[in-house]
Amino acid sequence: MLKVENLSVHYGMIQAVREVSFEVKQGEIVSLIGANGAGKTTILRTISGLVRPSNGTITFEGNEINKTSPQKIVADGLSQVPEGRHVFPGLTVQENLEMGAFLRKDNEQIKADFEGVFEKFPILKERRNQDSATLSGGEQQMLAMGRALMSKPKLLLLDEPSMGLAPIFIREIFKTIQEIQAQGTTVLLIEQNAKMALSIADRGYVLETGQIVLKGTGAELLASEEVKKAYLGG
Ligand SMILES: Nc1ncnc2c1ncn2[C@@H]1O[C@H](COP(=O)(O)OP(=O)(O)OP(=O)(O)O)[C@@H](O)[C@H]1O
Ligand SMILES: [Mg+2]
Repeated sequence: MLKVENLSVHYGMIQAVREVSFEVKQGEIVSLIGANGAGKTTILRTISGLVRPSNGTITFEGNEINKTSPQKIVADGLSQVPEGRHVFPGLTVQENLEMGAFLRKDNEQIKADFEGVFEKFPILKERRNQDSATLSGGEQQMLAMGRALMSKPKLLLLDEPSMGLAPIFIREIFKTIQEIQAQGTTVLLIEQNAKMALSIADRGYVLETGQIVLKGTGAELLASEEVKKAYLGG
């Protein structure tokens, strides 16, 4: 579904991503793990069309999207939940969710998808008329995920959804990611929380200073001595 080949990204003179290749097959959860500054967000923003690669190709459902506009990429079925959530303050929960659907015209289906999001995140239904800025961090993460789901993505990109959240919210968020997969959406998950991310992943990749250094199934990576030492506290 998604194929990233020999991707390199520079910020001026700084090379943040070095010849990275990986793929996501339809129906999978693929986790990309790595420490601070490894290049995770850069890869995700490049896939979304917000940052342009200096080299390499990104193919989504057989079409090269290196030069495609971010709007078109969302319309084609690829949405991201950005690092730090970025909900729209001053807009209510409901209005934030509506923003997620702004490229769609299938009004009946949009209504059904609203209900789907409220089913997944009942707290958002309770707070639908509340300013999104007043939500807790965990609730904002749910709203950011709900907003992305309102674009009806085929592939959902998540950038560190567990960041800064209490363990109880983290468990809930990861459970929801599995639900999203079960309902037919493919997921590329970017995380520093290697244990949680690999435990729900079909496959995973380990990123270090802009390069992929290890890959395997989620279970293989969880059992790997290198991953244990570097990411799972021994
Ligand atoms: N806009 C930018 N301008 C210049 N350098 C940048 C910019 N954004 C990121 N970088 C650099 O690129 C490298 C990769 O950053 P990136 O944000 O992709 O890492 P990350 O893996 O997402 O880190 P974190 O876990 O902290 O979110 C870092 O060295 C960072 O300082
Ligand atoms: Mg990041």
